Amino acid sequence: MDFKEYIRVIPDYPQPGIRFKDITTLLKDGPAYRAAIEALKEKVAGLEIDLVAGPEARGFVVGAPLAIALGVGFVPIRKSGKLPSETIEASYDLEYGKDKLAIHTDSIKPGQKVLIADDLLATGGTIATTVNLIRQLGGEIVGAAFLIELGYLDGRDKIQGIEVSSLVTY
Ligand code: PRP
Repeated sequence: MDFKEYIRVIPDYPQPGIRFKDITTLLKDGPAYRAAIEALKEKVAGLEIDLVAGPEARGFVVGAPLAIALGVGFVPIRKSGKLPSETIEASYDLEYGKDKLAIHTDSIKPGQKVLIADDLLATGGTIATTVNLIRQLGGEIVGAAFLIELGYLDGRDKIQGIEVSSLVTY
């Protein structure tokens, strides 16, 4: 399936010069959404995975169904102030803006093998922060899976040594 056909590109959103990749057009198509999750599952088939972790919010719509497809649990990584129990936090730069991510300290046990999932790898700031938080808890990152990779932003460089899988590259 050509997943690019299902992703809508919005020019100049959320600011001039950004060509926003809108996955809502993929998500609302049941067979395409399912096929995307299945395709990601196939891409990570060789990896030993105990948990999938994904950053709010679009990381949830990729990470949670992928976790179910793999038969493992899901760990949410959220913007600061949203998780109710004890957390650690780290701040990061976005393609446009700045934010802070948090994870529950008891969500990953040392040595657990974690696959990171998100909709988009852009500058890599979000995923590098996610890697940082998981490693602080002793998790072993076995790979990172994305629907979309913006190759021209070189986000992979921020998570060198981690196997990156993506369905669609711009
Ligand atoms: C978007 C996207 C990725 C991140 C990619 O999330 O879902 O998580 O940006 O950009 P980066 O590689 O440059 O860090 P955003 O922070 O906009 O949050 P959202 O999913 O809640 O919309």
